[in-house]
Amino acid sequence: MYKYRVSIIGLGYVGLTTAVALASRGFNVIGIDANSMKVEKINNGELPFYEPGLRDLLIKVLDKKRFHATTDYKEILNTNITFICVGTPSLPDGRIDLSQIVSATKSLGNVLRKKNDIHFVVVKSTVIPGTTRNVVGKILVNNYGKRLGENLGLCMNPEFLREGTALYDTFNPGRVVIGEYDKKSGDILENLWRTFYRANQPPILRTSLEAAEMIKYASNAFLATKISFANTIANICQHIPNCDVLEVLRGVGLDHRINPAFLGPGLGFGGSCFPKDVKALISFSKDIGYEPILLEATLKVNEEQPYKAIELAKKHYNSLKGLRVTVLGLAFKPNTDDMRGAVSIKIINKLLEEGAKVVVHDPKAVANARKIFSDKIEYASDVYNALKGADLVIIVTEWDEYKKLTPSVFKTYMRRAVIIDGRRIYNPQTFRNEGISFYAIGLSEGT
Ligand code: UGA
Repeated sequence: MYKYRVSIIGLGYVGLTTAVALASRGFNVIGIDANSMKVEKINNGELPFYEPGLRDLLIKVLDKKRFHATTDYKEILNTNITFICVGTPSLPDGRIDLSQIVSATKSLGNVLRKKNDIHFVVVKSTVIPGTTRNVVGKILVNNYGKRLGENLGLCMNPEFLREGTALYDTFNPGRVVIGEYDKKSGDILENLWRTFYRANQPPILRTSLEAAEMIKYASNAFLATKISFANTIANICQHIPNCDVLEVLRGVGLDHRINPAFLGPGLGFGGSCFPKDVKALISFSKDIGYEPILLEATLKVNEEQPYKAIELAKKHYNSLKGLRVTVLGLAFKPNTDDMRGAVSIKIINKLLEEGAKVVVHDPKAVANARKIFSDKIEYASDVYNALKGADLVIIVTEWDEYKKLTPSVFKTYMRRAVIIDGRRIYNPQTFRNEGISFYAIGLSEGT
């Protein structure tokens, strides 16, 4: 059987999780990252971000010497398969920024130049269709003398893990997609994943390089569209007496052709993936001559949705000037400290613009929030301090800790108990029965 020795370039969420997971199943893995501070941290068993369960597993694989991180690309020569997992952020115009892909490929080419045996290169980063073949493949062939199908194998293997459940998703994916330049490359990668998944084999789909790249974008665009659809229905329900969007979408999601996942109404989607990927797909589509109006609408709905919280606040208070407003939740979703694209940023900026005094709480993301807001807002050490003396609270991220709060907590600590449930975590009736002024996304008057 093929003896895999794995290297992974780019130790962000995808790269580090993949590296640690592979190492935990017996593969020898080297992680490469240009950031020496990050590399040192990882080798000391520290994560550069918060992700449940990952740190314990990292420490285990470091102890077993199955994994280490380095800045030295030359160590790739001790491996035979390299995953490229670097970031592909948005450029200011929404197009994808491939600069990290290009520089990682060049550094990889530089060391592979000296290698005669076949080396397999797998692009895991989210890249627009054509990138694996025409950027990564071309650079390795044209600049570094590699021969595709001879001493160079090439695959595209999109990643579907979610932040906050990254390890679970890695060990239990719904499917594995393998885009392949040739059959041999696809066989090698399929065999690696079949070895990794042991008794828990997911469906494995073999496609062209371009179809694999497009599957990733289409999946994220569909999920994002489902959320914007749910929010559109919520915004309509808001104006229908006696109509709660949660009842409506429960009824919709029970249709097995639709299903309830990602039909959760709220303040919109954030994160480093959905907004960036939908933007990149729109730009790509326009560049090749098609105007993707459905995707443009998905983004437009999402851009407006955070401000629904302010709209609801103004139903209660005509002006927010001078009010003490508590924002519960800063991360773009629970179980992460990531604030990239978080809707909390838009909401806080708007509250400040309206003249409110903003106090925030988040179980994990405060350090990241300080980098954005410094001393413009107040950071509470716990939920109770956050609520103390507040005139209004907005639930922005649905952390479990917030779900457990009872009406009496809000009544005891707040100056005036006015709640805006931006993530639909509370039962409206329970809170209203306690005399709390309760507003929520997709909840009309009378409900
Ligand atoms: C998303 C995809 O779910 C992953 O499959 C994909 O691999 C990843 O992007 C990526 O491309 O790297 P992630 O951004 O980590 O994962 O988080 P999600 O759980 O998808 O949530 C994204 C946003 O949608 C969050 O802000 C969340 O609050 C929001 N959301 C989610 C809703 O507003 N409503 C829902 O019903 C579900």
